[in-house]
Amino acid sequence: MCGIVGYIGPREATTVVINGLQRLEYRGYDSAGIAIYDPDLGLQLRRSVGKLSNLQQRLAAEPTRGQIGIGHTRWATHGGVTEFNAHPHRDDSGAIVVIQNGIVENYLSLKGRLLELGYQFESQTDTEVIAKLIGHYYRDSRDLVTAVRQTLSELRGGNAIVAFSIHEPDTLVAARLGNAGGVAIGLGEDEQFIASDIPAILDYTRTLIFLEDRDVAVVRRHSVTITRLDGAPVERPTHTIAWDPVAAAKGDYRHFMQKEIAEQPRALMDALRGRIDQERGRIELEDLRLSDDDLRRVRRIYATACGTAWHAALVAKFLIENLAGVRVEVDYASEFRYRGPILQSDGERDALLLAFTQSGETVDTLAAMEEARAQGAPSVAIVNAIGSQAARVADGGPLYLHAGPEIGVASTKAFTSMLVVAYLFALRLAQARGTLTPAQIREHIQALIELPGKAAQTIELATPICIELAERYHRAGNALFLGRQINYPIALEGALKLKEISYIHAEGYPAGEMKHGPIALIDENMPVICIAPRDHIYEKMISNVEQVRARHGQVIAIGHAGDTLLAEKANHMIGVPATLPLLQPVLNVIPLQIFAYHVAVLRGCDVDQPRNLAKSVTVE
Ligand code: G6P
Repeated sequence: MCGIVGYIGPREATTVVINGLQRLEYRGYDSAGIAIYDPDLGLQLRRSVGKLSNLQQRLAAEPTRGQIGIGHTRWATHGGVTEFNAHPHRDDSGAIVVIQNGIVENYLSLKGRLLELGYQFESQTDTEVIAKLIGHYYRDSRDLVTAVRQTLSELRGGNAIVAFSIHEPDTLVAARLGNAGGVAIGLGEDEQFIASDIPAILDYTRTLIFLEDRDVAVVRRHSVTITRLDGAPVERPTHTIAWDPVAAAKGDYRHFMQKEIAEQPRALMDALRGRIDQERGRIELEDLRLSDDDLRRVRRIYATACGTAWHAALVAKFLIENLAGVRVEVDYASEFRYRGPILQSDGERDALLLAFTQSGETVDTLAAMEEARAQGAPSVAIVNAIGSQAARVADGGPLYLHAGPEIGVASTKAFTSMLVVAYLFALRLAQARGTLTPAQIREHIQALIELPGKAAQTIELATPICIELAERYHRAGNALFLGRQINYPIALEGALKLKEISYIHAEGYPAGEMKHGPIALIDENMPVICIAPRDHIYEKMISNVEQVRARHGQVIAIGHAGDTLLAEKANHMIGVPATLPLLQPVLNVIPLQIFAYHVAVLRGCDVDQPRNLAKSVTVE
């Protein structure tokens, strides 16, 4: 989604802004632009479509200079991918520039009004409406922050903006309305930074303030003043972020996705760190901020998320129902928020919302959390991005994944970390409700402790086979992924990974449903990935493998290493170490990630930034 960066201070603003935008490339974008101001050179605007490197080439030919500036990477919502549609956008006089992340829901009526007043537009964007409106109000007040306030009070929809005017060359105004993604203000000595996402400015500062909904910040070299949209002063706490920017660099890997797949053993360990007491057979989730009494009161859990995180929510249903005996309903957040869900039963306050989100900024997931709050149900966020909106608005948690920054758009380590944190949550619930004894919890803890090592073994075992299989199947037009029970969401995730990064049409199906439709598609060109660990439905999966083979489909089986029966039945077999059946999905998904990765590489796809996708989806 769109990335926002702003800077004021003694450094060359162009360098800081471009560096920040580079750090945000992982969010996905289709064009980029900057506006830099210098008293002698005036306002210098450069924009270009495509990759940031295009903008950098442009800057090499036409450099900008100055100590205050803003920059933006755009992911098109209104209007095509053109230079005119790229941000920053200007007001009528050309003195004010604006960058935005979000959608102005009522932009058409606002634009109509401005057109009537005689304003002309050079782009099709809703952002230009904001710029023109700020310019319009500026004429009366001659004060940028007042003009921004007046403008924002007319906008509908979630929006984050940064504005600059040459008439106030020492000021940036940043504001946040709703859940259009975060605005972080990085505090430096004698300088300040603004970013939609903290990796953008971590090279320069670790001390951050996060704007809340309806906050407006006046950012100057020596001060940051935050007020509410109505002008009332407000104080926001400062946070210190410990992320190491080096961890966000690609290192020796060819792609971030490859690096993040490889990082999973460490990420899984980090997700467990400090949360398990093996001796006492206890789960210590202090950050959950819900007491045993609170947890005992819970009768129903609504798990909600989008994309890959939704698959984690589907797995969590099995974990929580099996371990803690609490009923779980799973919804896409975009469906949940509009379906008028009835959370509480008969006036009882017994429901809990569990939100899964790696970015913590997904607008639908945030809206689902709001819905829960409106119905008096506490929400717990399982989230990776520190200080993100979901982390801040949750009543319980945030249960951080501690997976470190995930840069590849296709989620890998955040997904497996979500499964581990969901497992810990389920065990914590079981502990409070007494559905597991400390001795039983100890067995689960043991399995969790062994998991990072088994993940490392899985990567080692699966990589050479996946490379071979990718060579064989990367020209396929379709692929089918089958699994049952807790491995059905893993089939969905395997299919999603493949389609996201290789653009091969892939479907995930519960294996038992295969004969009700997808079986018609199977022929000798169709790779069918069957997830068949030795669990209580193993034999059913073996039957499905045989049904696929009987139609000449090419079976790639994922099963326990050393399973000779499965190896015999399938065309190809990827063996993974065995763990507890409820933890097996964490290992089973790893070969699917590696397979998708190598297929995408062989097809020459942009693995880390697949077309049309964004890392954090802050619009509906
Ligand atoms: C986008 C990303 C997916 C992600 C989904 C939900 O579609 O490309 O990888 O699973 O959003 O994101 P979240 O940050 O809420 O987990």
